[in-house]
Amino acid sequence: MSSLSGDHLLGIKQITEADINLIFDTATSFKKVINRPIKKVPSLRDTTIANLFFENSTRTKLSFELAEKRLSADIINFSSSSSSVSKGETLVDTVKNILAMKVDMVVMRHPNPGAAVFLAKNIKAKIINAGDGAHEHPTQALLDAYTIRENCGDIAGKKVLILGDILHSRVAISNILCLKKLGAEVMVCGPATLIPRYIESMGVKVELDLLTALNWCDVVNTLRIQLERQSIKYFPSIREYVMQYGVNKEILDGLDKEITLLHPGPINRGVEITGDVADSKQAVILDQVENGVAIRMAVLYLLAQEI
Ligand code: CP
Repeated sequence: MSSLSGDHLLGIKQITEADINLIFDTATSFKKVINRPIKKVPSLRDTTIANLFFENSTRTKLSFELAEKRLSADIINFSSSSSSVSKGETLVDTVKNILAMKVDMVVMRHPNPGAAVFLAKNIKAKIINAGDGAHEHPTQALLDAYTIRENCGDIAGKKVLILGDILHSRVAISNILCLKKLGAEVMVCGPATLIPRYIESMGVKVELDLLTALNWCDVVNTLRIQLERQSIKYFPSIREYVMQYGVNKEILDGLDKEITLLHPGPINRGVEITGDVADSKQAVILDQVENGVAIRMAVLYLLAQEI
C-alpha cells in the first residue's frame, strides 16, 4: 500500500492501523532527509498549501510550515487575529476565498470541535486537522506514538499513561485512539474532575493515584492543565494539583524502573513536570518536536499523491 485510505487527515478515528504504519515508514525516510546537509526534496513542487490558524500555536504551526518547505511546496499563512474573520466572515467563506487562489491543501487549527470535518464536507481541497478544540490533534498523536516506538520499541503491548487534564485535551483523545489502534494498553490519571465519564468506553483504564499509575506504565505522556478552556475550577489550586499530580525527580527515582516521559508542549515547568525532569534524559520532548516535522512531511506527501 502506498497511499492513505482517506482523502483527508481529520482525526485518528478516521484512519486505519495500516495508514498509521504507512505514515511511520514514510516519516522514517523523511527523517533521514531532514538530517542530511541538503534537507529539501522536490516532492511537493507545484502544490500550494494554506496554513489556517484560528487559534494560537507554536510547535504545530512552525512544524507544518517547515515540513512544507522541506517538501518544496508553495505556502500561504493565515492567522485569524489579523484577518477579516473579525469583520464577521464565515469559516466557509474565508476558506472559499483562499481556495479561489488555487490552493490544493489546507492545514487548519480551529477552536471549534468538528471544524475540520465541517470544512472537508464543504470545501474541495485536502484538509489536515492541526487541532480542533478539545476534539482531535491527529499529527500530535502520530508523532507521539512514533517517538514512543523509536525510543521504546514496538507499541503493541506497551503500557502508556496519559496524565493530567484529560477532559480538555484533544491530544489525549487522539493519543488514546492511535495507541489503541497500535495495540498499546492505555491508562489515564488525573483529578477525577478532569477525567471525562465516557473515557472507559474508549477501552482505557482510569487511575486517580499518581504513584500507582506511574508504577504501572512504561511511558507517561504528561499533559498541560488547560486553564484557558476551564470556565469553572476543577481543582482547588495549582499548588494542590502539583502536590498530587506533579511529576518530579524524586518520584521518578523512587520507581523500580526507568519510564520514558513525553510532553506535547507547551510545558508549564513546575506544574505538570519539574524543570529538571523536562531536561532529563528520560524526557524525549525534543525528539517529539524533531519527529513532528518528519511525521507532517509524511502526511502531506501521502495526501498529495491523490491531487
Ligand atoms: N503541541 C502543540 O499542539 O503545541 P502548539 O499549541 O504550540 O502547536
